[in-house]
Amino acid sequence: MFPVAKPVLPDLGRYGAYLEKIHERVWLTNFGALHEELTERLKELLGVRHLLLVANGTLALQVAYRALDVSGPVLTTPFSFVATTSSMAWEGLEPLFVDIDERSWDLDPRLLEGSPPASAVVPVHVYGNPCDVEAIEAFAKARAMPVIYDAAHAFGSTIDGKSVLSWGDASTLSFHATKIFHTAEGGAIVFRDEDRYRRARSLINFGLQDELPTGILGINAKLSEYHAAIGLTLLDRVGDLLEHRAELAEDYRRALSNHVELQEWHAGGSPNGSYAPILLSASWSSTASRASWRRKASRRGGISGLRSTGFHGRTRWSARKAKTSPDGCCACRSTRT
Ligand SMILES: Cc1ncc(COP(=O)(O)O)c(C=O)c1O
Repeated sequence: MFPVAKPVLPDLGRYGAYLEKIHERVWLTNFGALHEELTERLKELLGVRHLLLVANGTLALQVAYRALDVSGPVLTTPFSFVATTSSMAWEGLEPLFVDIDERSWDLDPRLLEGSPPASAVVPVHVYGNPCDVEAIEAFAKARAMPVIYDAAHAFGSTIDGKSVLSWGDASTLSFHATKIFHTAEGGAIVFRDEDRYRRARSLINFGLQDELPTGILGINAKLSEYHAAIGLTLLDRVGDLLEHRAELAEDYRRALSNHVELQEWHAGGSPNGSYAPILLSASWSSTASRASWRRKASRRGGISGLRSTGFHGRTRWSARKAKTSPDGCCACRSTRT
C-alpha cells in the first residue's frame, strides 16, 4: 500500500544546507537565487522555455487568465478540483461547463462544437491524464481564443515523450504538499510566449517591472526562498519518485481493472502516478448492497483495513439534469474530484 496523498518530506540535511545559504545571503523572497535555480532546473527537466514560479496553483490560474486577457465566459470542465472554477469566479469570469469524456474523464472536445462564444478554454489534465490536446487546440484556433490547461495534477505527464506543458498558450501547475513534486505551497505557469510570461512576472509582483511601476494592476504571488529550497531538495529525488509512482499506478491498474472502473489513459501517454479515484458501479451506492459489500469486505479485513491505511470514499460523480442556458449550452453539472 502506497499512501498517495502523504506528502514526500525533504531530507532535512539537504534542506538545511539550502536554509544556510538563505541565511548567509539574507535574501528570503523576491526572485532570490534559489527561486532562480529552481526555475532553471524545472525548465530543463520539463523541457519548457517560459516558466514562472508562483505562490500556489490557484494563483497560477488567476494570473494566467489575466496575462492572457481572459474576460467574460470561459469554457471549462465540470470535473476537477473546485479551484479550476472558483478561480474563475474570483476573477469575475463566467464558467461554462462542457461535459467530460466518460472514459478519459477529461473535457470532451467533441462537445466544444456548438458551444456559446467564450474568451478562452480551460481544460484540466485530470489526475495527470493528458487531454485530447490536438482536438482542443484545433477548436480554439478556429475561434481565435487561448487555451489554458490546468495541469495541477500533470507534473511529469507526457504525450509521445513530450511534456504536456508544451501545449496551450499557458499551463498551470500546483506544487501543493499533496502533489508528486511540491514546495509545501507553490505552483508555476508555463507560457508559450515570452511577452505573456513577462507580463505575468509583473502581475505577480504588484505590477512592478525592474522595481518600477508599469501601470498594470498587480498582486503578490511570488514564491519564497524557503519554498524554493523544499523544491530544490525534492527535485534531486523526483526522477526516482516519478518512476516509483508510475510502477505503483501500473500495479494498481493491473490488480483493480477487472473489479472497478478506471480512467482510460491517453494513448500517447503513460500514467505519472498522480492520485486518482476508482469508480464503483451505481448499484454499490444503494444502502443494501453497500452494507453487504462492507460485510464481505470486512470479513476479509478489507474495508477497515483500507480505511486505516487512508483510503477515502466519495460519492460517484453523476451528471445532474443539465440546466440549459438560453443559447442551449450545458450550463451546469456536478463537480467533484
Ligand atoms: C485541478 C486543480 N487545480 C488547481 C488546484 C489548486 O492548486 P493549489 O492547491 O496549489 O492552489 C488544485 C489543487 O489540488 C487542483 O487539483
